[in-house]
Amino acid sequence: MQSDAPGALDASLAELIDRLPKVELHVHLEGTLEPDLAFRLAAKNGVALPFRSVAEIRAAYEFSDLQSFLDVYYAACAVLVTREDFRDLTVAYLAHANADRVRHVEPFFDPQTHTERGIPIGDVIGGIVDGLAQGEREYGITSGLILSFLRHLPVDSADATLAAAEPRLDRIVAVGLDSSEIGFPPEPFAGTFARARALGLRAVAHAGEEGDASTVVRTLDSLGVSRIDHGVRSAEDPAVMRRLVESGITLTACPNSNVRLRVFPTMDRSTIGTLLKAGVAVTINSDDPAYFGGYISDNYRAITAALRLGAADLGRLAANAIEGSFASGPRKQELREELSQATAG
Ligand code: ADE
Ligand code: ZN
Repeated sequence: MQSDAPGALDASLAELIDRLPKVELHVHLEGTLEPDLAFRLAAKNGVALPFRSVAEIRAAYEFSDLQSFLDVYYAACAVLVTREDFRDLTVAYLAHANADRVRHVEPFFDPQTHTERGIPIGDVIGGIVDGLAQGEREYGITSGLILSFLRHLPVDSADATLAAAEPRLDRIVAVGLDSSEIGFPPEPFAGTFARARALGLRAVAHAGEEGDASTVVRTLDSLGVSRIDHGVRSAEDPAVMRRLVESGITLTACPNSNVRLRVFPTMDRSTIGTLLKAGVAVTINSDDPAYFGGYISDNYRAITAALRLGAADLGRLAANAIEGSFASGPRKQELREELSQATAG
């Protein structure tokens, strides 16, 4: 940890961030819906948005907590209707990811947000897979798609979603659990996650974002996950951090999201430095970049400046993302080599 003024980003660290090959493990495709694409799709599909302009939308992106954000995020999803819409959304995200030197991504999608509106799950998955294939052809970005259940909906709905997705599970690498954290504990989803794991899927879940460190423990105990999404409140309990280190669990932290959703009042209060020092495998991600003011490199820059991280910290964060990914062994090895070239220079 080395740069001199809090808030200022050393030019050599800014360059290092630019050239780091990145792996993004926590991005919701629905959270990459930029206002201009939302307006274009709304007009095409004849869907009314409760905003008259891009400026009015951006002004509405002032959130008091997770739920105040989720209300806007779910409402905006109404513009996503056809298979091509899901492809265009995915391709637009991958163009941003490529500009930030993302080399592998494991994005979430929330099928229930769309199937509840009558959109066939095959169109949702098909469009996203088309977009991911286009991104791999154009940019060489590899991917693994994560089907995420909404924890504010009944467990039966999660089970029906898993059953509906079964014919397409070859396109999906893992299941996840997201949406409102407070009041929606992980335990009821234990059976769903056990079935998903028995079908050969990996498992991840959001926890320790608004919920405290005990929600991370409950999630590990009940769902058999190999990553915790967010998990930043684990730093409040040294025993939880020790468990994360000993069990090799990766945390997918999202610095801008945490400040915009008021998990931390300011970036310099982020617990990412504490987690790094404790040896927890923490990573940097964008969560819902269209809503939180920036993609993955913005998140790297913001946390580096606020916590005065150094080059070794940046290398560690990028390496943690490679190791915590579900990429194949050979792909991980390629990513390790790209990273060691970027950090050698
Ligand atoms: N869905 C999209 N973004 C989310 C977040 N930060 N937490 C929980 N659910 C989400
Ligand atoms: Zn998230």
